[in-house]
Amino acid sequence: SFNAGMKNLVTTINKLHDALASTHSEAGQPTRLNLELPQIAVIGGQSAGKSSVLESVAGRDILPRGEGIVTRRPLILQMIPSQEEFMEFLHQPNKPYTSYEEVRKEIRAETEKEVTGKAISSKPIRLRLYSPDVLQLTLVDLPGMTKVPVGNQPDNIEKLIQAMILEYIQPENTLILAVTSATEDLANSDALKLARLVDPKGERTIAVLTKLDLMDRGTDARKVLENKVYPLKRGYIGVVNRSQKDVEAEKDMKAAREDEEAFFEAQPAYSDLLHQVGTRRLQQVLNEEFEKHIKEKLPEFRSKILQQKVMKRFTKRLEACLKGFDDDVDIHEVQLGAVINQKINEKIIHGILNEENL
Ligand code: GDP
Ligand code: NA
Ligand code: MG
Repeated sequence: SFNAGMKNLVTTINKLHDALASTHSEAGQPTRLNLELPQIAVIGGQSAGKSSVLESVAGRDILPRGEGIVTRRPLILQMIPSQEEFMEFLHQPNKPYTSYEEVRKEIRAETEKEVTGKAISSKPIRLRLYSPDVLQLTLVDLPGMTKVPVGNQPDNIEKLIQAMILEYIQPENTLILAVTSATEDLANSDALKLARLVDPKGERTIAVLTKLDLMDRGTDARKVLENKVYPLKRGYIGVVNRSQKDVEAEKDMKAAREDEEAFFEAQPAYSDLLHQVGTRRLQQVLNEEFEKHIKEKLPEFRSKILQQKVMKRFTKRLEACLKGFDDDVDIHEVQLGAVINQKINEKIIHGILNEENL
């Protein structure tokens, strides 16, 4: 179910890990690859399709979706490369899950435990997904923006939700998936409004237009996708997620992607905009983002690896040299030895640096 681009990236990163695993820091600890890929958060109005978009990024049916306010607590999904595939909640350590349905049930139960009815809470649910085919990434699903309090929601619900969302999208290393339904007027998009508050230049905002299949007959999203209506630095991607009926019929992710592709191929309005539509395209765009990020970090890794190689060889040669000074050492000689060592060190370092072409 996972896209090939993501697999390639996973392979590349694993190779980097292997390269670093063979080197050790001075304290003898294996060097850690601190990649810190961006975190991805979805924002938008209620039922815009945020959870649907996010789970297609994760490639798994992991999130509760539905009409009305389903996501009532932030869900932080940490994806962790591992040999085995399983899921685990932080509030239930050592209870591995393998069924997505059970995970969705537990998310609903844990939400209800904290807040009943339609109330929301900023206290996140933390879920870990271990798998051989994921990148070390964190995805954040957030409650949707609403204006009118319903059920047991407080009067200031709009402000509360906004504050919660801002808290999650403020960090610079967060990619914002700003989700708007194509059935809505873009001028009213809460997602774009909030994204602009923390990312005014649109450097880290990717706009996603959902529900292209539900637009009124005779209308389409061409102008928006062409970035002509409300231009954004990174433009828009149009998608078709599973409908409520599909969710109830338990249509799987693979079938959903095939139907989505069939939809766009059958629509003359989008035939020349295929690079702007489809969940696969969204996944590609995200992969490109990560690749760029990794490329930017590569020189740093390279010099780290070289530095450690140098240290290792330096220590070995120094040990060899010191063997000659081992007999009859007194304090004076030790001090003298230190001076000599200093000279030797400089020579060795100089030599190694030349060898390594640093
Ligand atoms: P959220 O509240 O923003 O997280 O939205 P959800 O992902 O829970 O989706 C809300 C409802 O809209 C669900 O019933 C989804 O099945 C449906 N939905 C989401 N995206 C689409 C779409 O692109 N097309 C159609 N037909 N329905 C969608
Ligand atoms: Na919803
Ligand atoms: Mg949701």
